[in-house]
Amino acid sequence: MEDVGIIVRRLTLQARALGALAARIRLDELGVQGDAAQWEHLSRVVECLDVGDLSELAPDRRASLSASIRTGLKQILELVEEPQRMGGWTHTDAALLQAQGSASADIARSIQRAGVGRSGARILDIGCGVAGLSIAFCTEFPDATVVGVDLWAPALELARRNVAVAGLDARIDVVETAIQDYRDDVGFDLIWLPAIFIPAVAIDDVLNTAFELIRPGGEIVVGAFNDSPDALTNALDALMTVRSGGSLLTATEIIAKVNGVGFADVHEIDRQWSPMRRLVTGKRAR
Ligand SMILES: C[S@@+](CC[C@H](N)C(=O)[O-])C[C@H]1O[C@@H](n2cnc3c(N)ncnc32)[C@H](O)[C@@H]1O
Repeated sequence: MEDVGIIVRRLTLQARALGALAARIRLDELGVQGDAAQWEHLSRVVECLDVGDLSELAPDRRASLSASIRTGLKQILELVEEPQRMGGWTHTDAALLQAQGSASADIARSIQRAGVGRSGARILDIGCGVAGLSIAFCTEFPDATVVGVDLWAPALELARRNVAVAGLDARIDVVETAIQDYRDDVGFDLIWLPAIFIPAVAIDDVLNTAFELIRPGGEIVVGAFNDSPDALTNALDALMTVRSGGSLLTATEIIAKVNGVGFADVHEIDRQWSPMRRLVTGKRAR
C-alpha cells in the first residue's frame, strides 16, 4: 500500500494539471495570452500533457471542453466543501450552472449526428436547466421549437436570460414544473430525458409521461449512466450522479424500460471513447 501523502501529492498534481489545461483552453477562447510569465509556464505544462496543438481545436469542441472541465471542477469542490448534503440538483452558483449548460450543448450535436431529430421538430428538453441544450437544439435543428421544463428556479432564471440574449424567445418556451406534472395537447417530435439527473424512483413515471407527450413517429433520447469497467471511473461517475440526484440505470436497463413503456426500435447511439453518458433512443410507432 502506498503512503497516503504520496497518493495525495500525485492526485493534487493531476488536479492542478487539469486546471492548467482548462486555463489554457479558456485563454484560447478569450483570444488572449494574459500575463506573459504565466503563459510561458502554462505552455510548458500543456506540452508535458502531450495534448497536441490546442489552438487547432474547433470552436464548439473548445467551448464544450472548457465548460465540462469548469463544471466538473466546481462540482468536485462543492463536494469537498459540503460533503454532508443530501443528493439533488440544488446548485445556486451561477457560474457552475452556466458551465453545466454550455457543456450539455454537445448532446444536441451527438443526437443530430446520429440522425435522430429533424429541422422544424417540436422538441421537449426535460430538465432544461439554464437552457444551454435547448439553445443548442435550435442551432442543430433549423426552425425547431423547444419547450424546456425544469423545477429548479435558480437555473430557470438564468435560462430565461440566456434565451433572450440568444434572441430565441420565439422558439424556446421555458416552463417551471416537474415533468411528471407537465401537460400538453400538441405533442412532441423529439424528447430529451436525462435519466442521470432524474431520481431512480421517478424514472418509470417520467418515461410514461414522455410516452404520452410524444407524437406518433416521434423519437426519445435518454441519457443513461455510463457503467465504466474501470473501478475508479465507475465509483466517481456513480458518486457525482447520485450527488446530482440522478439514477444509475445502465444503458441496458434503460433500453428495457424504454421498450417497456411502448417505444419501438430502441437501441443505443453514440459510443465515443470514454463517454460521460450513454444515449438510448426509441420511436413511437405511427
Ligand atoms: C444538469 S441539469 C441540466 C442542464 C441543462 N441541460 C442545461 O443546459 O443547463 C439537470 C436538470 O434536471 C432537472 N430535473 C431533475 N428532475 C426533474 C424533474 N422531475 N422534472 C423536471 N426537471 C428535473 C434539475 O432541476 C436540473 O436542472
